[in-house]
Amino acid sequence: MGKIILTGDRPTGRLHVGHYVGSLRRRVELQNSGEYDEIYIMIADAQALTDNADNPAKIRNNILEVALDYLACGLDPEKSNLFIQSQIPQLCELSFYYMNLVTVSRLQRNPTVKAEIQLRNFETSIPVGFFTYPISQAADITAFQATTVPVGEDQLPMLEQTKEIVRKFNAVYGETLVEPDVLLPDSEICRRLPGTDGKAKMSKSLGNCIYLSEEPQEIRKKIMSMFTDPGHLKITDPGKIEGNTVFAYLDAFCRPQHFQQYLPEYANLEELKAHYQRGGLGDVKVKKFLNAIIQEELEPIRARRKAYEQNLDYVYEVLREGSRRAKEKAQETLEKVRASMRIDYFADRALIREYQNRS
Ligand code: TRP
Repeated sequence: MGKIILTGDRPTGRLHVGHYVGSLRRRVELQNSGEYDEIYIMIADAQALTDNADNPAKIRNNILEVALDYLACGLDPEKSNLFIQSQIPQLCELSFYYMNLVTVSRLQRNPTVKAEIQLRNFETSIPVGFFTYPISQAADITAFQATTVPVGEDQLPMLEQTKEIVRKFNAVYGETLVEPDVLLPDSEICRRLPGTDGKAKMSKSLGNCIYLSEEPQEIRKKIMSMFTDPGHLKITDPGKIEGNTVFAYLDAFCRPQHFQQYLPEYANLEELKAHYQRGGLGDVKVKKFLNAIIQEELEPIRARRKAYEQNLDYVYEVLREGSRRAKEKAQETLEKVRASMRIDYFADRALIREYQNRS
């Protein structure tokens, strides 16, 4: 059996550095490792509609935003199938059968769903589609027979749910579906990069995200006003690293060679942190260092994005072709599922034979 990746994002906005260190950067590495036989990257528009039913234009407009961000980061259509979830009707059919394998109380216990219900004030009026999206996510993953799902930590409960469905399906109908492994970012900080204001959640409405497509001056402004240690008033004061957003971002982005390049008086991040904690190192100096690093990382991404923006017909064709291939794969899986469930009535005349031999 081959190694297959499936992952994706909801198209509710442009992608930001949290997506980048939490998943995008890793995907590109996995893609280029050559270790995977098939890679599917999904723009999860149908899932995004589960809590945006009244605003389809928002989802529609963000499909190309996300596709542009994908290509800009280095996802290569020659190696990865980029596709749009709603164009794969097989996913709905799989979800429909999986729904019979999951209880309402199991869905109610899903921590991600619980948190999202709170976040959206859905307590009294949860759309059924939203409530059941962990099941459709299991369909997304299993339809492609994914062995590996690279995601952020917030998606762990979805993967748990998927594995349960796979086990249950295979136990009831015979070995059919592949149980996927989750691949989390290797460092704690990349799993949950805070917003520039230090808040745990990055969100458009809080204005605390650095977008991949953001212009250099904007990035600089956001970094120079980042949340640090509120107790670090004078340069000579000792500073705290814990809860200090600038150091969190350095943990996620800084590599040893950045010191030689931008801050040669320190050998590595440990030395920089030690100096900050001792006192005598100002926030502005650390922020300028971080700015240099992030600008270097995002500059080629922004440039590639601009090039693709000039060629939207190409991006459109990439999505069309990716969706076509994804649909083929999902159809293959659906046929296996129907055969295992023995609802492939017209594949042979067994329906009649079994009726005649019934006891
Ligand atoms: N739930 C994911 C998110 O909110 C998007 C998603 C949908 C996904 N289906 C998936 C991720 C399958 C990984 C695998 O970003």
